[in-house]
Amino acid sequence: MSAIYLCGKVISSLCHCASVVRLLSAFPYFRLPIMRSLNLLPLLGILLITCNQPMNQTETTAAPETVSHDPHSFSKPGEAVVKHLDLDLTVDFDKRILSGKATLDIEIKNNATQVILDTRDLDIEKVTFEDGSEAKFELGSETKHLGKSLTIFLNESGSSSPLLGRGAGGEAKITIHYSTAPNAAALQWLTPAQTAGKKFPFLFTQSQAILARTWVPIQDSPGIRFTYSATVKVPKELMALMSAENPQQKSTDGIYHFNMPQPIPAYLLALSVGDLEFHSFDNRTGVYAEPVTIEKAAYEFADLPKMVDAAEKLYGPYAWGQYDLIILPPSFPFGGMENPRLTFATPTILAGDRSLTSLVAHELAHSWSGNLVTNATWNDFWMNEGFTVYFENRIMEALYGKEFADMQRILGQEGMKETIKELGDTNADTRLKLDLNGRDPDDGVSDIAYEKGNNLLMVIEREIGREKFDAFLKNYFSKHAFSTITTEQFLEYYRSNLVSDSSDEAKRIDIMKWIYEPGLPDNYVKITSSRFAEVDRQVEAWKHGSAPSKLATQKFTTNEWLRFLNTLPDSISIDQMKALDDAFHFTSSGNSEILFAWFEHVIPSKYVSAYASLEKFLVNVGRRKFVKPLFSALAKTDEGKKMAKDIYSKARPNYHSVTANTVDEILEELPQRHKDTEKH
Ligand code: BES
Ligand code: ZN
Repeated sequence: MSAIYLCGKVISSLCHCASVVRLLSAFPYFRLPIMRSLNLLPLLGILLITCNQPMNQTETTAAPETVSHDPHSFSKPGEAVVKHLDLDLTVDFDKRILSGKATLDIEIKNNATQVILDTRDLDIEKVTFEDGSEAKFELGSETKHLGKSLTIFLNESGSSSPLLGRGAGGEAKITIHYSTAPNAAALQWLTPAQTAGKKFPFLFTQSQAILARTWVPIQDSPGIRFTYSATVKVPKELMALMSAENPQQKSTDGIYHFNMPQPIPAYLLALSVGDLEFHSFDNRTGVYAEPVTIEKAAYEFADLPKMVDAAEKLYGPYAWGQYDLIILPPSFPFGGMENPRLTFATPTILAGDRSLTSLVAHELAHSWSGNLVTNATWNDFWMNEGFTVYFENRIMEALYGKEFADMQRILGQEGMKETIKELGDTNADTRLKLDLNGRDPDDGVSDIAYEKGNNLLMVIEREIGREKFDAFLKNYFSKHAFSTITTEQFLEYYRSNLVSDSSDEAKRIDIMKWIYEPGLPDNYVKITSSRFAEVDRQVEAWKHGSAPSKLATQKFTTNEWLRFLNTLPDSISIDQMKALDDAFHFTSSGNSEILFAWFEHVIPSKYVSAYASLEKFLVNVGRRKFVKPLFSALAKTDEGKKMAKDIYSKARPNYHSVTANTVDEILEELPQRHKDTEKH
């Protein structure tokens, strides 16, 4: 009795979760030794995960949580879940706010009397029912990273009496009247000067991972999908686009209607407003960009129809109808974001020679891995990104050949090895299955999910054979379409459909080690590239004194230049830097990846001649993948840190919150200090 009591006590105080206590009293044999002998420890793990909820969440008497409870959402989909969202928003560039209403169709389970949504920095004016009467609501206290829960009582009085005719039959419709804060984390409001055309303002959203709640009151969990419709009012010179069926021309009155018939999780909600034009590639693909950029974009991505065809040939039909790109201003914090039907992309991939289009293959691949089959929580992030990198490389291989794709794979693998070296090979964040409970899911974003995930799939492919693995993946996507997956559900599917635990392949793959242990297992696929071997010979020749101009670099493509720059030694003298620059003109390269790889040498070698170019790059480009390592490198010395702070004072007003937060941490800036520069 006492052992049971103690065990229950410890667990309940650990997780503050009433459902576990209920479960414990229902199972008198719930004791640790018994659990061990019956191999029930994983169950305890699951229970603890389900319990790890924000503490200010209201306790209810409803059904037990689902196994894959999301620690980054207040919502309780087991009680009441959003099925459809209808947005009606006005975009106010002067005040920098979105205001209007969000109408939610809710499915009510087990006679629940309330629905819980996620919000952060939203101003909630009122909540109404379909007949216009007001519903009682309550905002929870502010929780770090997560914002506030919004509990809406589905019976008018807010008591636990049965629903007053509303919500009967397991459904309810509620409307939240609200506006966003001027510093809403998902939104970036740009002045005309921050755009390519310099004439009109621009707005874009970035909802992944948990920022949708800063512009829409919603159940912001990747495990919850809903369809949506929207009416968005913008200044009439501008066009509005969403992750939905989109217009291809400006409307005359600035009012746009959207429909998204396929259910999506909240992190894929997206809106962009600007002076935009459309270029069509074929009947289902195209690109939006500002008028001054559209021609360049049309040239750069001309292979888009072929990419979609190649992707479909690999893993089945494209499920979303149209696939378009939008080229955003350079402050966009990512390379790309896989918003359904409309990938958001950085202009830094407009290299002029189509050499950086693998990013588009990546975002397109997410239309299967991520958007169709979605990681259930951010701890399973590798299920989105690892599969996508594997798929991206396969698309590039289908279009441009194995030699090209293998160079990409090697660059990725080398980057991952660097990351593991930096984090340390026992660091828990080098495991595929992450533990982000209580942390910002943004902390889990490293190339581990991407590249270690991809490398695991490459090992499986090697052991099983490509044909069999492709058939498995195709089925995996179709069987799990429009649903979510945890790492553990994947493992179960993999064991029953591809590799049984008792097989020789299972031993050779050792999937549990890849997923649950840190570091890089040594059975990873060692890829060779004769083109990279040649690059390495040139680097060796240079190290032995050959002048840069004498090196055989004439046939180098972007990937080879990246290999060249990445394998140069860490310390290079100023004279050597100058000679390299004179021969290859890195400082004035129009290719952002090459420029970035060069700046990684410019900083430690203190190659002053490139500082102006470095500053221009950091002030102009807000892509975190570039900005973060460069500020980190600068911050390594006192002198560099001074320079970094100086540059950052000019750059920060151009950055989206996700990049600004990252750099704030690197330079130990207090965000408060910049509040006044935020609205620039
Ligand atoms: N979905 C990600 C971007 C993301 C990840 C946003 C996590 C917020 C949180 C996107 O698909 C991505 O991976 N972008 C990469 C592309 C690259 C790997 C080709 C990027 O932005 O660099
Ligand atoms: Zn991705």
